[in-house]
Amino acid sequence: MADFDLLVKGGTLPDGSHADIGIRGDRITAIGALAGAQAGTVIDAAGDLVTAPFVDPHFHLDATLSYGVPRINASGTLIEGIALWGELRETATVDEMVARALTYCDWAVSMGLLAIRSHVDTTPDHLNTVTAMLEVQRIVKPYLDLQLVAFPQDGLYRSPTGRANLIRALDMGVNVVGGIPHFERTMEAGRDSVRDLCEIAADRGLPVDLHCDETDDPLSRHIETLAFEAQRLGLQGRVAGSHLTSMHSMDTYYVSKLLPLIAEAGVAAIPNPLINITLQGRHDGYPKRRGLTRVKEMQAQGITVGWGQDCVRDPWYALGTGDMLDVAFMGLHVAQMTSPEDMRRCFDMVTVENARIIGLADHGLHQGATASLVVLDAGDPIEAVRLRPDRLAVVSKGRVVSQKARNDARLALDGRPATVRRRH
Ligand code: FE2
Repeated sequence: MADFDLLVKGGTLPDGSHADIGIRGDRITAIGALAGAQAGTVIDAAGDLVTAPFVDPHFHLDATLSYGVPRINASGTLIEGIALWGELRETATVDEMVARALTYCDWAVSMGLLAIRSHVDTTPDHLNTVTAMLEVQRIVKPYLDLQLVAFPQDGLYRSPTGRANLIRALDMGVNVVGGIPHFERTMEAGRDSVRDLCEIAADRGLPVDLHCDETDDPLSRHIETLAFEAQRLGLQGRVAGSHLTSMHSMDTYYVSKLLPLIAEAGVAAIPNPLINITLQGRHDGYPKRRGLTRVKEMQAQGITVGWGQDCVRDPWYALGTGDMLDVAFMGLHVAQMTSPEDMRRCFDMVTVENARIIGLADHGLHQGATASLVVLDAGDPIEAVRLRPDRLAVVSKGRVVSQKARNDARLALDGRPATVRRRH
């Protein structure tokens, strides 16, 4: 009998060490020098980076791959995107939404993205969005961890059935509480919604992940209420604030008080750099604000910060590929995380730190962890962010789910090498 079902040999781990990884069933059962070990399947990863899978802590799977339907977002704003989606969700069938989402999940798997937290719109009374995403969650379960967040896109109170439908979605099996306080009618209503949502989560024992302060308004301060409620209700470690773009524009003295409160409350932050950089600042002349929250400043306070993708080919964003390294690349630039330590951290943010934020159990490369990993055509994490290279192999729960042959460019230049890889 072979020692392992699957053996990944000689790869470079994100910490720079080299190790063989032995897998039995859906678990990593050995990691280290495994010379002479026998396995049913062997992947030669010598010279390549082997990492735990990519994790996306913020996405919208119900809207993905719908770009241009019913129209393109002409203003490029968050608000026009919400209006367009409001039209689309009334005409899109459950089958259409399932098909689009499954196509995106195929893209994700091919990129080594094996866990996604997706907000699902609970606004429409028909809740087709929820029905569709629960079906997708069931289908992809063998190979992709899909968390669903009940997201009242049109507001918990602003939409007449907003609160009732959010509760219905939770009763249907959606198990993270979402919200959008900055989109409620008033600052007070936004504050009330944060308190209400955190109480719903506390009563049901669920995590909270709110779209929070996704605005250029420096006085949008729902993150303060979120941190306060997380602490009051004992939700530390189970709460995330997504976007937090207003923090870009806040008064720095106020932020110096706010950040320790967020840290104390154990609230994580999920900026979405591709989207924040394109949606925010649309009302500005020059200088034009960039709308990314204060990433390095939060990290310096010990706050866990991940990078989320948010949108791919939908009413808010025309581009996107499902590659979390694209997200890390943009985040690195906009947050000016250019030191070697910070560049490396951007890679960790889209792998282990995102996994921690969404509470993903047994993620990582260690004995006993889920046997999910990615082999990248890169030498180390910083090179991976620079190249956003091919995923040579993707293993999910012990099964090879995607492979891609190494594909070096062939040069036709006299006196120069025959192939070029751009690795350095
Ligand atoms: Fe979002």
